[in-house]
Amino acid sequence: MEDVRTVLVLDDSKTFLEDFDSLMSSTFVVLQAQTERDALEHLSRKKVDVMFLDLMLGDGQSGLDVLVRVKEILPDLPVIMLTAHADVETAVEAMRLGAFHYVSKSPKIEELKTLIDKSLAERTLKRDYQVLREEVQRVSGKIVGNGAAMQELLLSIHRVAMTDVTVLISGESGTGKELVAREIHMASKRHERAFVAVNCGSLVKDLVESELFGHVKGSFTGATQTKLGKFELADGGTIFLDEIGDLDNHAQVKLLRVLQEKEIDRVGGTTPIPVNVRVIAATNRDLFAMTQKSEFREDLFYRLNVFPISIPPLRQHKEDIPLLVEHFLRQYEVQLSRPKLRVSPMALEHLMEYSWPGNIRELENIIQRAILLSPTNIVEPEYLPKEIAEIRVPISESLSLPQLEREAKERASRLAILRALDQNEWDIREAARSLGIPEKTLYDKCSKLGIKLRKKA
Ligand SMILES: Nc1ncnc2c1ncn2[C@@H]1O[C@H](COP(=O)(O)OP(=O)(O)OP(=O)(O)O)[C@@H](O)[C@H]1O
Ligand SMILES: [Mg+2]
Repeated sequence: MEDVRTVLVLDDSKTFLEDFDSLMSSTFVVLQAQTERDALEHLSRKKVDVMFLDLMLGDGQSGLDVLVRVKEILPDLPVIMLTAHADVETAVEAMRLGAFHYVSKSPKIEELKTLIDKSLAERTLKRDYQVLREEVQRVSGKIVGNGAAMQELLLSIHRVAMTDVTVLISGESGTGKELVAREIHMASKRHERAFVAVNCGSLVKDLVESELFGHVKGSFTGATQTKLGKFELADGGTIFLDEIGDLDNHAQVKLLRVLQEKEIDRVGGTTPIPVNVRVIAATNRDLFAMTQKSEFREDLFYRLNVFPISIPPLRQHKEDIPLLVEHFLRQYEVQLSRPKLRVSPMALEHLMEYSWPGNIRELENIIQRAILLSPTNIVEPEYLPKEIAEIRVPISESLSLPQLEREAKERASRLAILRALDQNEWDIREAARSLGIPEKTLYDKCSKLGIKLRKKA
């Protein structure tokens, strides 16, 4: 028989505890606690699978404080916050502090069951690294990285995807802000509806409002037809406001209104139109610093920064470089029909030493360029840009002497063979003769070294 799950619920209201118990006790073992002490008592005696915790306990005590203490004792116990309708912001704060999710105080049994299942699944994910990687590949096929920072990022993505809150993604250029935004949309319940990306930096100043909110025919010169804005196009789905720091003050005021009222005004329109859109904004600038210099509205900043996600620059998670390189090689194998592409250990050493100011986008471009330049299927340091190839890589501690020797030998063979092929206009028989080896041996070596034989020039 399957284990019956044990659920602990802490709430200061006896009535609520009893209602909760009658809702849940046919499916779960329910432990009730009316005070923090009772709850901790239960936790120390019994194996609890999931905890439900009221955000507002009696006597002005906040559920957040209890949450922090519970997390100290049992860091991977899934905790689901119980909230009255109004305190969604606090509930989100709770998620930042490690709560798994939140649910309203008039819960439905199906909703609770799903949440419990999901929270237990996430705990398993966290516990089992291998499972995490598979799960990640299933749900987020494209976000690669197995270091601690990327795992953390993936967990935030999955958490926030279950909610409808506004997300503010920050990170340097090329760190994957748009990729993360798309991932949140795809993992959310809106995934079958539109994902509309708007680059706020490239909007023409006079047309910002019309682009975002649409306009009515005849509302200004050139408005020959009624046009839907991006918000209306994204209705039911997600709007991605990229480079949000580039919006001018006027557009900031308009956007703030949309976030507050959940309705838009078309330019020249007479009645507001309700829209149901999840907003994800991104920036490579320090928006908070901009608010301090009055370059960005503070009220808008707080409306956007409900759930912040900050993506670290690649130089801070270099441990992911080998996996990223692997990922891009597999992509180009398909795109360029070049099977068995690889990067030599020496070239990888150089890639690991570089500081990557252009982050993952730069890595992607450099791998692609190297593959196009390389006459073989193997990327050697000489096909990397000068500034990377010329980095003095300290005599590697990660490469053993036999590895270094093998690589030096392979490189020498490859150079000699390529030179012979070139000098003999890619005539195999001639090249083999000039190298002093049988033709068959040359074929074998080429295939082993990944040298693609071309037709004679
Ligand atoms: N973790 C990752 N795994 C695989 N590919 C990634 C990852 N992060 C970024 N990329 C790839 O790097 C490129 C840049 O990503 P993206 O466009 O999302 O960055 P960005 O932060 O929006 O950059 P910019 O600020 O320049 O607009 C894309 O091709 C994306 O697919
Ligand atoms: Mg971008």
